[in-house]
Parts: sequence; structure tokens; C-alpha cells
Amino acid sequence: MGILEPITSAENLPEGTIRSYREHGFVHVPGVLSSEEVVEFRAAARDALQRLQDRSLTKGRGRVEQIFTQIVNVWREDETLRRLTLHPTIGAVAERLAGIPLRIWHDHMLVKLPHNNAATEYHQDRPFWPFRDDRHTLSAWVALVDVPVERGCMTFIPGSFTRTDLRPQNLADDHDLLNLCPDLIWEPRVTIPLKAGDCTFHHGFCAHMATPNFTDDPRLAHIVIFMDAETRYSAQRHIVTDPLGLAEGQVLDHELFPLVGKEHR
Ligand code: SIN
Ligand code: NI
Repeated sequence: MGILEPITSAENLPEGTIRSYREHGFVHVPGVLSSEEVVEFRAAARDALQRLQDRSLTKGRGRVEQIFTQIVNVWREDETLRRLTLHPTIGAVAERLAGIPLRIWHDHMLVKLPHNNAATEYHQDRPFWPFRDDRHTLSAWVALVDVPVERGCMTFIPGSFTRTDLRPQNLADDHDLLNLCPDLIWEPRVTIPLKAGDCTFHHGFCAHMATPNFTDDPRLAHIVIFMDAETRYSAQRHIVTDPLGLAEGQVLDHELFPLVGKEHR
């Protein structure tokens, strides 16, 4: 790390960042990783992608496979990426933004291959998750390579996190969410290119999309998803919870879902 490299921590996180997140439902947090960490985590992500790509949830799914390769819970498979998912800064910043104790829901590596030419279309994340009584969910989207608009960065619709009653939306359909909420068509959209080591945080109900990758290099993003520490299981089907034999209504207190304060510090 260069001595003047600006690194964001939970302690020096500007109050304006927290205000902006709470007002809009997303925020850009530059420099959560040092340049040394970026080099280490990027190498581990490339390596894990080679080893685990056959496990991609989108494999063989046509249009969705074109959008991205998705490998869930890499922190359970790779020691280095475990340190990234449980990174103390990322967890502590997430708790400052949410203002409540959190636990990890899951991580995933989302890779847009070179020239995938396919956007991740507008959707909210939270409708896909088997939760009830949760006060907050949010994701840290960490860039492990530079992600200009042309490589597949995120775009958000400010304020859209107030729409909490929608069914899951099809992220291969560019009109699904906007058909459900035609008023969102007239809202401004904010596109946030990221340098490697930067991240965005977005609320689980914030509408977002990601641009296609038109470049010669893969877009490597590592996403860590956090839930309210007191979240209860709704029994909605989900690939992470289906095998666990959980009882409907129980708190999601399980080794797969570590508390931020406990595992991170
Ligand atoms: C993407 O990175 O392509 C989409 C990420 C998300 O939907 O959260
Ligand atoms: Ni999403």
C-alpha cells in the first residue's frame, strides 16, 4: 500500500456516506481494499473461477449464462476469499450503513466474461430471499478489477428501496421490473464505475442493473450480502437454505450465516 493511499474504514466513513445511503438506498465507497489486497484477492478469484466454474448457478441456462457466471458461497471453498467475505472493513461499514447488527447471508462471485454483451436487467434482490421479520438487507459489490461502465458496473434507481411488495423480477428481461413499477421509468438512474478495490453498497430492495461487458477482460466482482442478525426463515425456496432443514420462523442462526461482529473482529 502506498503511504498516501486513501483507505476507507468504518471509523473514517463520512457521515455524508451514511446519509446518502439511507436517502437513496445505495452508495459508492472508494478504497475499501488496499492495492495489495486487490492483487491478492483478484488472484484468488481468478483461481477459484477456474476451479469452480462448473458449479456456476447459471451454467447451461442460455440467456442467463450469458449475463454472468455465478458462484455462490466461495468463502466456504477458498481460504483467501473467506478473508474477503469476512473482511472487517466491509462488515463494519455495512453495519454503520444499516445501523443494526448484521450477519452474512451469502457471498457470490459474479463474472461477466469478455464481450458478454448482456446486461443484468433491473431487479431487486430481496424478493428472492427466504426472509421474514428482517429490518434490513444490503450487499457490498466489490470490484476486483477496474470496472468502467463498458465492463459491467452497477446502475441504481435512487429511492426505489421503498417498494417492498414486489415479486421476484427476471433479471434477463429488460422490462420486467419496469412493467411492475412503470413510475420507475421516469426516475433518474445513477451509474457508478468502480476502480479495483472500491465498492458500492445497495439496499436489498433498491432497484439496480449492471451494464454489459464490452471489453476484452473479464469483469470480476465479489458480492457479500448481509442480513439483519435477527432475520427469520420464511421457508421460501432458495438454493442456500433448501438443504439445511430449517424450521419456518426460526432465526437464521447457523454457521453458514456468521454474525458480523463475531467473525469479523
Ligand atoms: C451484476 O453484477 O451483474 C449484478 C449484481 C446484482 O444484481 O446485485
Ligand atoms: Ni442484484
